[in-house]
This record gives sequence, structure tokens and C-alpha cells, in this order.
Amino acid sequence: PDEKTRVKARIRDLLAAEKATLVAHYYTDDDLQEMAEETGGMVADSLEMARFGTTTQAQTLVVCGVRFMGETAKILNPEKRVLMPDLGATCSLDEGCPADAFTAFCDAHPDHTVVVYANTSAEVKARADWVVTSSIALPVVEHLAAQGQKILWAPDRHLGHYVQRMTGADMLLWNGACVVHEEFKSFALERVRKLHPDAAVLVHPESPDEVVDQADLVGSTTQLIKAVSEMPNREFIVATDAGIFWKMHQIAPDKTLIPAPTAGEGATCESCAHCPWMAMNALQNLEQVLRTGDQEIHIDPAIRERALVPIRRMLDFAR
Ligand code: 13P
Ligand code: SF4
Repeated sequence: PDEKTRVKARIRDLLAAEKATLVAHYYTDDDLQEMAEETGGMVADSLEMARFGTTTQAQTLVVCGVRFMGETAKILNPEKRVLMPDLGATCSLDEGCPADAFTAFCDAHPDHTVVVYANTSAEVKARADWVVTSSIALPVVEHLAAQGQKILWAPDRHLGHYVQRMTGADMLLWNGACVVHEEFKSFALERVRKLHPDAAVLVHPESPDEVVDQADLVGSTTQLIKAVSEMPNREFIVATDAGIFWKMHQIAPDKTLIPAPTAGEGATCESCAHCPWMAMNALQNLEQVLRTGDQEIHIDPAIRERALVPIRRMLDFAR
């Protein structure tokens, strides 16, 4: 067997020995997604990842993704050990929303309901009334707006603006962005659409307005994957991280998937739209963390207790 096969076999043994289960995001390496599936774990979007941790019997959760995903798993499952291949895997949205500045923003607008995207630190979540992921942001904000609540939204301004446009809610937006989705270019996308007039355009809502405006469907990673198998189109132009193609190919091998362009002049670029922090997860550091148990998530109990409230609210609403 080659080296990769040997590493995978060792990881399998370690998972069994440690009574550990893997949960991986769709943006991680194909090998990690495959391992999670083959070993009885899960590949998922961020809402399903959060839910999965609460349903598995495993004593150790290994979260392949970015730090907020590991933190959410720990907040929901304090009795479990939560490991990540690399705790340094962060997110530009999380980094662009430091807890102290965010708290000051909330304090300046006490009449607003605070809704934060899951892509935030535990400290930021601890200051929120609601946590949402991209798959549930619209219905939650719709629900709050119907009660006449004004909303303070953080940190992704593109997703916030999309939600605002769709719901008509009164929203104050934090000025954050995802460095990966912000790279999609609307002009170049128009050109690719002309080359593939029958293709459906699938867009993650962290993308800029002009890209979202060209979408046939806007949704979370799971919602975009579902669309590939459910929509009748044979071709899809996909504006999100290239990691998602592994699952899309798996469930709809006969469909053609075209990455949305991240550069001008109608060029397409398979490797550009890839989150540098998701890419920090690999078979090698997964094996390493299972051996050493370092890279474990710890959260201050007082922060955990407060952050749990808005996360639970989201999970209860999503039921
Ligand atoms: P999903 O909730 O759609 O999986 O998105 C998470 C994320 O980080 C997208 O960039
Ligand atoms: Fe954060 Fe963007 Fe990476 Fe998702 S793709 S983890 S939003 S930087």
C-alpha cells in the first residue's frame, strides 16, 4: 500500500482506540471527508456539524474544519474531548470581529437583538441573543422581524445584506467579510454564464451582492449540494469553496460542475477559491492529534455557559 493508505489505516486504528469520531466540513480535503464518512462520522455544513456532536456516543470528537466549529462542538458537549488537527485554523470573519470591539458595538445599540453568524469566537457568541448559520439565517431573522425586533448583525456584511434584502428587516451590519467568497468576480461570472447558458448558478451567501444577484439558488453548503442532485440542470456554476466538489461529484457523478471565477476575463480557477484555514486540516496532523491529544479545545466555563444560550436557541429553532 502507498503512504496515504497506510496513514488512513493508522487513523482508523487510532479512532477506534480513542473512541473518537470525525466530523468534517465540506471545505476540507477530499481525504478527510472520505475518512469521516468511512469511519461512521459525518461530513456536513456548520449547522449539521453542531447537531452531530450532540447525537454521537463518542467520547472524543475530532472536528476537521475551522476553530469556531470546534468551539461550538465544545460549548454543546463540555463532557466530551474536542480535538482539531490544527487549532490555528481560524476564519477571516472570526478574526475581523474581536470580542471587545463587538461588545462596544452592542452596548451602543441596546435596543437591538444581537444575531451573530456561527463564524465567530465563543466570546462573541456569549454576547449574542441568537447564533445562526447560513442555512438558517433567513428564517430566524424573518421570525425576529415579524415581532418588530431591530437586529444588530455580525460579522459578515455580505450575508447580512442578503438577509436584509430578503426579509426587509431593520438591520445594523458589522463590516466583516469572508476572504474566500469575496474573491468571486461578478463580471467574470457573467462571461462564464454566457458560455454555459443552461447551467444553474449556485452561490453561497457570503459572496458579494453582484454575485448573489446572478444566482439561481443561494444557500449553505448542504443546500447547494442538494440542489445539484435535485435541480434538473446538467451543468452547475458553483460560487463557493472548491472543497465542496467532492460531495457534489459523489452524489451527482453525471453532472458537470464549473467553479465560479475568482479572476477577471472569464477565467476559471479551480484552486483559487479555497479557504487557507480549512486547508490546514490534513491526514498528517489528524493522525498527530489522535496520537498526542494536543490541539484540544478548552473554553472558559463562564463564556461557555453564556454562549450556549444563543446556540441552543438556534438548534431548537431549526428542529
Ligand atoms: P456553511 O454553514 O454553509 O457550511 O458555511 C460555513 C462556512 O464557513 C462558509 O464559508
Ligand atoms: Fe471563514 Fe470564509 Fe474560510 Fe468559511 S471559507 S471558514 S467563512 S474564511
